[in-house]
Amino acid sequence: MVQYAAIATLLGCTVVYAAPTSVTSFSDAAITKVKSNLLQIATHSWEIGTAMEALTELEWPSLSVFGGSLPPPVTLAPGTASDIISWTTKIVKAKPNPNALPIIDGDGAVGDPASIGVAVELTNWTRADRGDHEFSTAAGHQLTYLLDVAPRTSDGAISHRSDQVQLWADFVYMAPPFIAYFGALKGGSGGLSLLQIAYQQCKLYRQHLRDPSGLWKHIVLGNGQDLHHWGTGNAWAAAGMLRVLQTISHSKLSSKMKTEQADLKSWINEIVSASWQYQHANGTLFNYIDESSSFADTSSTALLAAVTYRMATLTGDTGHVSASDKAYNLIKASVDSNGWLRNTVDPETFNTPSLAGSHSPEGQAFVLLLQAAYRDFKAS
Ligand SMILES: *[C@@H]1O[C@H](CO)[C@@H](O)[C@H](O)[C@H]1NC(C)=O
Ligand SMILES: *[C@@H]1O[C@H](CO)[C@@H](O)[C@H](O)[C@H]1NC(C)=O
Repeated sequence: MVQYAAIATLLGCTVVYAAPTSVTSFSDAAITKVKSNLLQIATHSWEIGTAMEALTELEWPSLSVFGGSLPPPVTLAPGTASDIISWTTKIVKAKPNPNALPIIDGDGAVGDPASIGVAVELTNWTRADRGDHEFSTAAGHQLTYLLDVAPRTSDGAISHRSDQVQLWADFVYMAPPFIAYFGALKGGSGGLSLLQIAYQQCKLYRQHLRDPSGLWKHIVLGNGQDLHHWGTGNAWAAAGMLRVLQTISHSKLSSKMKTEQADLKSWINEIVSASWQYQHANGTLFNYIDESSSFADTSSTALLAAVTYRMATLTGDTGHVSASDKAYNLIKASVDSNGWLRNTVDPETFNTPSLAGSHSPEGQAFVLLLQAAYRDFKAS
């Protein structure tokens, strides 16, 4: 594969990087292995939702919020998004109780089942059987649960947990992108108010979780807080706000929400800029980003690099691309020949490395999100 410098020369333009790092892309074969491993091990609601988002961005980019305008087309060419649609179909048709509000069991989390909602909305919108209302009902129930049933803080932030009011940075990737997507498809004043709610939730979560350095705490309020600046939590927050931003800007309501889009951009940048200050020489971030006693974590490094490439594509500001290039190389070197991402944090303890022989479903998905973001950056 060619390096950036070579590409720049070919195109006859001048590209200046602060610290040029040569990057060669993952091979298609490596990405195929990463993906098939992901599909084998994604079982929890948030892992499934994140996997669906990764597949959409990687394989069906025009249907992702980074691609085409919203709403998506009503009719898809045969085979399009078939992997996503068959997965959502399996989940929605297998709902043990069709009247249950969340799409799937969330292990006590409010936000996580909603992560599947974008794919359910897409399935409803493009379904071949126009008489089938099950997807619409499932998505509507999920929204009702978030907006009308889940506990909240007194200032209106929707709790990430169902049994107590507690805010997790993770929530920002799970629920606001779904609320926004629902709004973009609905359109009109009802759609606008949903886009506003998605934005407001990002704003409230930032108010509760952000520290002066720009990094976000992981979990606040209630029992079992984690006040550290968890790498994956910061990545979830930045990547979730980015999806909300892109959903707004690709919707028909974009012109009505200019200041909100500017805010989201600056909030994403705040996390990205603060994080890369702590990047280590080999490209990695640490699990607790700003703690030297923590350990190297490829999961958060991959997702923050994905956000960085996407922001550079969006804004034309390549100031952090040398950091994401270094991260990309580190991630490439960390995927073994069988397609497993090594050196991940255990996504369920948050503060210990994955045990030997066990793998991170979300880490696998982050590699695909990184690859899609890198590809789109290079193409721009
Ligand atoms: C499902 O799609 C139909 C169009 O076929 C649309 O009218 C309906 O609002 C959608 N439901 C949801 C919850 O978005
Ligand atoms: C990257 O560097 C950190 C120390 O800064 C180290 O802990 C980690 O193991 C290194 N990662 C790789 C893949 O070499």
